[in-house]
Amino acid sequence: MTATLAAGSPVAPLIAPVTVAGMPLRTRFVMAPMTRNRAPGGVPTPEVADYYRRRAEQGVGLIVTEGVLVDHPTAGHEDTVPRLTPGPVEAGWRRVVEAVHGAGGRIAAQLWHLGSLREPVDGRAAWTPSGVREPGRPAGHVMTGADMDELLASYAAAARVAARVGFDAVEIHAAHGYLLDEFLWPYTNRRTDAFGGSPARRAAFPAAVVRAVRANLPADRPVIVRFSQFKERAFDARIADTPAELAEILTAFVAAGADVLHASQRRFWQPAFAGSPWNLAGWAKHLTGLPSITVGSVGLTRDFLRRGGPESVSGLASRLAAGEFDLVALGRALLGNPAWVTHAAAGRSAAIVDYRKSHEEVYP
Ligand SMILES: Cc1cc2nc3c(=O)[nH]c(=O)nc-3n(C[C@H](O)[C@H](O)[C@H](O)COP(=O)(O)O)c2cc1C
Repeated sequence: MTATLAAGSPVAPLIAPVTVAGMPLRTRFVMAPMTRNRAPGGVPTPEVADYYRRRAEQGVGLIVTEGVLVDHPTAGHEDTVPRLTPGPVEAGWRRVVEAVHGAGGRIAAQLWHLGSLREPVDGRAAWTPSGVREPGRPAGHVMTGADMDELLASYAAAARVAARVGFDAVEIHAAHGYLLDEFLWPYTNRRTDAFGGSPARRAAFPAAVVRAVRANLPADRPVIVRFSQFKERAFDARIADTPAELAEILTAFVAAGADVLHASQRRFWQPAFAGSPWNLAGWAKHLTGLPSITVGSVGLTRDFLRRGGPESVSGLASRLAAGEFDLVALGRALLGNPAWVTHAAAGRSAAIVDYRKSHEEVYP
């Protein structure tokens, strides 16, 4: 990164190097996982390696890949979404990892299973905790204990491939209404066995996934768990109505070996619970003592760097400096601005392109 920091810039704490869960990072900025559909047959192409390398060489400390399907026929249906399976896919990922490392960055693979949001293909129903889906969609298969064991083996296998190709960390996608989040959310988890009921019991299968991944990664590679209250198709949904309920869920992840919590929300400045200004990442850190990552509408317009207030860079930086969270993920801002971090560090707000939906269609 070649940026020169403007004197007194509020960006200073955000571009300071840090070590999180034993991982030395060049800045506090993380690239949020974003599905881009550029991996025909599940194999990331050289274009994918270049795409991540460009963000790493422009100051992103940690890249979290787009969601990567674990090796199971129910994980996902799209042929352009990458996979993490033994075999030819490994060479594709090795190229990605080497590109990011060559640019001084670190990279985590995000492990994904779509749960009920996978379309039924080949006549095979989607796997779900309780066969409850959105109105108007087929019910889906209720997972048995044997199914859970099968999936744990798939996650474990993916973790072994991730370690083999050199990923620095693995992120488990337990957010946004996909399979693991369907266990956490009472609306989709109506089970009456050990995997349903209280928040701790709803967390039991996702925590078993954390344990399986942890057991199959070298001890120096952190396990990150991404979770959210909202669902992609239900913004007001919640997995925890109170901090005590959230503590039950997150404590299960910690006991299973999670090292970092990635608290996904749509706007980082919004409090997670009434009575405290802390956002979801703030609560995650406070309740568990683990380092946390915040995310949500950071830097979407050049104004973010110019104005003041809670929604601006100064609001974000002062919360980080106060220890509310440790890292800050950028999603959409990085689609149209591979150099967002260096521009922000140098105070070049005019160089930043405001986010537009059309950025999701291109691949600079
Ligand atoms: C095109 C696109 C694809 C996404 N794909 C994923 C994904 O694969 N896994 C995931 O956890 N979140 C995914 N997200 C959510 C982002 O990681 C991020 O949380 C969200 O965009 C909010 O951050 P932002 O306001 O900085 O964009 C995606 C978002 C976008 C815009």
